[in-house]
Amino acid sequence: MTHSDHPPFFWALIPAAGIGSRMRADRPKQYLQLVDKTIIEHTLNCFLDHPQLRGIVVSLAEHDPYWHALPCAGDARIVRADGGAERADSVLNGLLKLTELGARDHDWVLVHDAARPNLSRADLDLLLSELADDPVGGLLAVPALDTLKRAGADGRVQSTVDRSTIWQALTPQMFRVGELQRAMADALIAGVVVTDEASAIEWSGKSPRLVEGRSDNIKVTRPEDLLSLSRLWLHRT
Ligand code: C5P
Repeated sequence: MTHSDHPPFFWALIPAAGIGSRMRADRPKQYLQLVDKTIIEHTLNCFLDHPQLRGIVVSLAEHDPYWHALPCAGDARIVRADGGAERADSVLNGLLKLTELGARDHDWVLVHDAARPNLSRADLDLLLSELADDPVGGLLAVPALDTLKRAGADGRVQSTVDRSTIWQALTPQMFRVGELQRAMADALIAGVVVTDEASAIEWSGKSPRLVEGRSDNIKVTRPEDLLSLSRLWLHRT
């Protein structure tokens, strides 16, 4: 089948093999409870019933003892891939799994952190519609609102950064399966640190598009993040 035979499909890839040590919890942060479900279940729920998505891959740590206890572990719509030492390794393994599942180079993949359970359906739809015809792809992001300081080695302010051109990168990040796979593999071989998919694409010489999303699409990193999301959730229900 060639590119012209069908328009690109959309796939979701959820890296979920991190430890999340800054949460200082007894388990990886994606398995912590957020009101009625674990963080990862909330995250997956946003993708599971989306009519435009062809499939979902979740990258999990090799000896993950928590996943199999979740109801979604038995969901046929979710396919498991092996996680890796760094987030980028988990994403690369997930991309390989997508290829095994039949994803083509020109299909789109949306990579979304397992630890971001508050992605809204509206933002997911916005990303899909804004980027479906984009030559590069892009990411959800929010413009910086706080005044930003550059720190010196002595822990004192060196300068104030012009915030008018600074955006904070969120996920999902949406790129072509083949292009992302090549960019990430090449970056890893070259020893370039890629903390998100966009930085791999940038490193390959392309310029991802910024799509403004909601600022409450936060990545649970510290205990207070979980607390504020719990408040938000309880307020909603
Ligand atoms: O640690 P951090 O918050 O940056 O992780 C972002 C996402 O990447 C999380 O969902 C985490 O589970 C995932 N990750 C991964 N493999 C790693 C490290 C992080 O899948 N080795």
